[in-house]
Amino acid sequence: MKRLDEPRLAWGITGSGHFLRECLDLACSLPNVDLFLTRAGEEVLQMYGHRLDGLREDFRVFRDNTASAAPVGLFYHGQYHGVVVAPATSNTVAKCVLGLSDTLVTNIFAQAGKCRLPTIVFACDTAPEMETESPKDWVTVYPRPVDLAHTGALARMPGVQVVETLAGLRSAVEAHLAALVRPAP
Ligand SMILES: Cc1cc2nc3c(=O)[nH]c(=O)nc-3n(C[C@H](O)[C@H](O)[C@H](O)COP(=O)(O)O)c2cc1C
Repeated sequence: MKRLDEPRLAWGITGSGHFLRECLDLACSLPNVDLFLTRAGEEVLQMYGHRLDGLREDFRVFRDNTASAAPVGLFYHGQYHGVVVAPATSNTVAKCVLGLSDTLVTNIFAQAGKCRLPTIVFACDTAPEMETESPKDWVTVYPRPVDLAHTGALARMPGVQVVETLAGLRSAVEAHLAALVRPAP
């Protein structure tokens, strides 16, 4: 993996269709973003019409194809200034809360914590009843109390900001980028 001079934003995509296109559009509008996919994220991206080849035109893309989450080694070399997970499935949120790291995205979340990098998570499960987009149309889903409890617990973790809306995601990311200390020219 090539090391780059300027730190970048690591953006995790999990297997959720919840505002997936809008999350990608936001990531695409930002400078220096690398995508980290879970295996489910890679599948769901394709179900919503996003091909890996196309994504590679705009991003460096890391797939979840090693047991050790090899790309996280980049976190130890100052390659990233922050982590965004958007959208974040119930599964990934639950694992993050429990401290599990067995996918590429739960691994970048864990490494962000261990390297004290700020993390922003756009959680799918934020209310007892929600509208979300399936590959074909909009549907109503009812996140369970356990899902909502995990989202709440995630928001209480140090260094982690949980956002519930796209507007919230955009402002959190913009605030993070604005706060970066840039070296003097
Ligand atoms: C089309 C599609 C959309 C999905 N959307 C969601 C979602 O919005 N939220 C969610 O928690 N799981 C969703 N799932 C299920 C997850 O992909 C599944 O739980 C997967 O195991 C999550 O793995 P990951 O957290 O490692 O990405 C969806 C699955 C499919 C096929």
